[in-house]
Amino acid sequence: MSIWNLYEKTYEKLWVQHISLRPTRKAVIRALSSLHLPENTLLDMSCGTGQLLDDLKRDLPEIKCMGVEPSLMRRAAASKGHKILESNVEHFESTEKFGCIVCTHAFPYFSDQQDAISRFSEHTLPGGYLIIAHAETKTIYDLLMLKIVKLTTSKANYPAPSKMKELLEPYYKICDVVEINAWYVPSITMYVARKGEL
Ligand SMILES: C[S@@+](CC[C@H](N)C(=O)[O-])C[C@H]1O[C@@H](n2cnc3c(N)ncnc32)[C@H](O)[C@@H]1O
Repeated sequence: MSIWNLYEKTYEKLWVQHISLRPTRKAVIRALSSLHLPENTLLDMSCGTGQLLDDLKRDLPEIKCMGVEPSLMRRAAASKGHKILESNVEHFESTEKFGCIVCTHAFPYFSDQQDAISRFSEHTLPGGYLIIAHAETKTIYDLLMLKIVKLTTSKANYPAPSKMKELLEPYYKICDVVEINAWYVPSITMYVARKGEL
């Protein structure tokens, strides 16, 4: 059983939500506010309980959103009225392509990160975007914090910016790299990348 299933009812009450994940959601909304998404569609890969989808519905209601979530957390997201598909990233397939794919705080848990980016690219419309954000270990403080976080999650591999560049560049052009830093959280980096127009 996936450890993520255990968070179906408790995820939104966790301390990490308030001090660490909320600033990321704000940064994603800020980035999206200045982008023009082809067909105005967005897929939130590994949407958890749908908190980013909640924020998008409130702040950018013109974007048509859906989420993908393998764990039981998807039930919490679906119960709030979001359109949710059950899948892990390894088996994700859709006939639809999206104007933007967002993936926050989930990429480190993917078993084959290159394959995940390739899959995202297959599902991004030409001229569309990938926004991906997660923690990394830049400092000893980050290392300690992430060791604690790792005790409560599935196996994780936090790629550094140089690795992210290597993973993204065969498929996307990186438009922006944003550091989402507050003294009390591990370093978080958000990458905004665009797929070339055909
Ligand atoms: C820390 S939560 C982040 C949830 C949400 N994106 C957020 O920012 O609050 C990590 C998420 O990654 C998902 N996840 C873990 N392994 C996955 C995989 N192989 N494929 C898709 N999602 C996965 C978990 O189910 C969980 O929803």
